Amino acid sequence: MQKLAELYRGKAKTVYTTENPDLLVLEFRNDTSALDGERIEQFDRKGMINNKFNHFIMQKLEEAGIPTQMERLLSDNEVLVKKLDMVPVECVIRNRAAGSLVKRLGVEEGLVLNPPLFDLFLKDDAKHDPMVNESYCKTFGWVNEENLARMKELSYKTNDVLSKIFGDAGLILVDFKLEFGLFKGEVVLGDEFSPDGSRLWDSKSLEKMDKDRYRQSLGGLIEAYEEVAKRIGVNLD
Ligand code: C5P
Repeated sequence: MQKLAELYRGKAKTVYTTENPDLLVLEFRNDTSALDGERIEQFDRKGMINNKFNHFIMQKLEEAGIPTQMERLLSDNEVLVKKLDMVPVECVIRNRAAGSLVKRLGVEEGLVLNPPLFDLFLKDDAKHDPMVNESYCKTFGWVNEENLARMKELSYKTNDVLSKIFGDAGLILVDFKLEFGLFKGEVVLGDEFSPDGSRLWDSKSLEKMDKDRYRQSLGGLIEAYEEVAKRIGVNLD
């Protein structure tokens, strides 16, 4: 499937149209950003790792009955996906306290959250992705009640599937962000799942193996991503 024109350039991916109006190509670049894109760096192999990681995870979710936009892997850095009408709200599931939750509530990092939390953030870099809730979605018309309920259900289901996969690989799925869209009226998982948008800690040492290595200038970002990919069985060759 040939790329036609650039549709959108995000912080780590570029989206292209194809001859088929229902399909897009996602290209994973080596760019890594923090602070809403104020800090950007390139890391060799990162686009390839995240592309294959995302493809692997989306396949697992699809097998578990979660509808995803994934069609197929096209190359090291590209996948073919369904074109979704994206919902401008990000869904976050938290199994342990970290990041903005620790900042907001002052709870201890690593605190087990039972039941896991479900947070919503408006996708708007200029406003620094403000936290919102279900009534905001309805009042401002970002997503209707029925579709939001489905997004929440699919987020928790994703958490069950992925907590098991990472748990079996000696990793704790601390938290993660998902984005959904509509395809012919159905809620479908879009965007990506990678260590860029999730927190993964080694179960024993609690070492951070995700984008916090970049956000917190810990070093060893690519080595950590490769290790996580290897542990869950992603083929990076
Ligand atoms: O920053 P915060 O602690 O709220 O992030 C929760 C989870 O969502 C983290 O795994 C983070 O990587 C992800 N996230 C993201 N994109 C954002 C905000 C958060 O991928 N814009």
